[in-house]
Amino acid sequence: MPSSVIDLRSDTVTKPTPAMRAAMNVAEVGDDVFHEDPTINRLEERVAALLGKEAALYVPSGISGVTCRTFEGDFGILDITQLDGKIRPNNEHQVRTRLVCLENTHNRGGGRIYPLEKIQAISAWTHANNLALHVDGARLWNAIVATGISAQEWCKPFDSVSVCFSKGLGAPVGSALNGSREFITRARRVRKLFGGGMRQAGVLAAACLYALDNNIHRLAEDHRNARVIAQAIADTPGLRLNPPEVDTNLIWFEADADLGTAADVVTSLQKRGVLVFATGRQFLRACTHLDVSAAQAEQAADAIRQAVPRLTPAGSRA
Ligand SMILES: Cc1ncc(COP(=O)(O)O)c(C=O)c1O
Repeated sequence: MPSSVIDLRSDTVTKPTPAMRAAMNVAEVGDDVFHEDPTINRLEERVAALLGKEAALYVPSGISGVTCRTFEGDFGILDITQLDGKIRPNNEHQVRTRLVCLENTHNRGGGRIYPLEKIQAISAWTHANNLALHVDGARLWNAIVATGISAQEWCKPFDSVSVCFSKGLGAPVGSALNGSREFITRARRVRKLFGGGMRQAGVLAAACLYALDNNIHRLAEDHRNARVIAQAIADTPGLRLNPPEVDTNLIWFEADADLGTAADVVTSLQKRGVLVFATGRQFLRACTHLDVSAAQAEQAADAIRQAVPRLTPAGSRA
């Protein structure tokens, strides 16, 4: 593999820059389980205000296990008509329907941005049915930058919002859950039960504050770079963008079976110094982020154009 690798597997691979590390180095810390870490307190106040919510909670990871009922959307985008009749009856044999959860941008939907009017319609339906509405906004920052719609406007229809600092924003760890003060007080308890209470984690929160100050606007660059790579995929026979449009920094694509498998495409690109992620037998994802420059996106696009036509059947795979 060439010595300088262009890593498009995920936006979680970003590494803290020297400036971010400097901010971490001087972060004031305290015991956050006692609410005494000033840097975490500052981050939580800042993010809640940014998203127009009362309070926020910094957590090591934004994923948790709940009983889910998923629906096939249009690349992750649900229409309100799909929700009708889906609330489970109030019956002791069934889990209670309590929450509708959307994702914006939608990872498996190809980085799709949820149309705000669809969210507003779902919000009205959800609240009319006494359910809460949550958004997994791990990549909400990308939707904000791509549309120019403010964070508060995106978040207004939701009771709770989670955002992530360790993807496009480039911080090493953490997400923030946002909502009413009462909800966040309960979430703090649940975080402790899950083993997520952290002590002097202000060094991590400092990286998140640095990311909020420095790494949001530049996401537009990731979106431009994603389009460069997407164009190479669209131009390459045997590869197909799926979805066909690239809204943000995620590029999901499919390889024709006569070209080989997704794993063959990964291997061929890896030999040319480009890492992409096989998400299924024929499906792949490439992702642009802070650690991929415009020049590297061009290089990756060239590698795709060169590598894939050589992936022909019967052993001639480069
Ligand atoms: C859409 C989405 N939501 C939430 C998460 C959770 O992120 P973390 O565990 O880093 O907070 C991920 C991580 O990959 C994600 O892709």
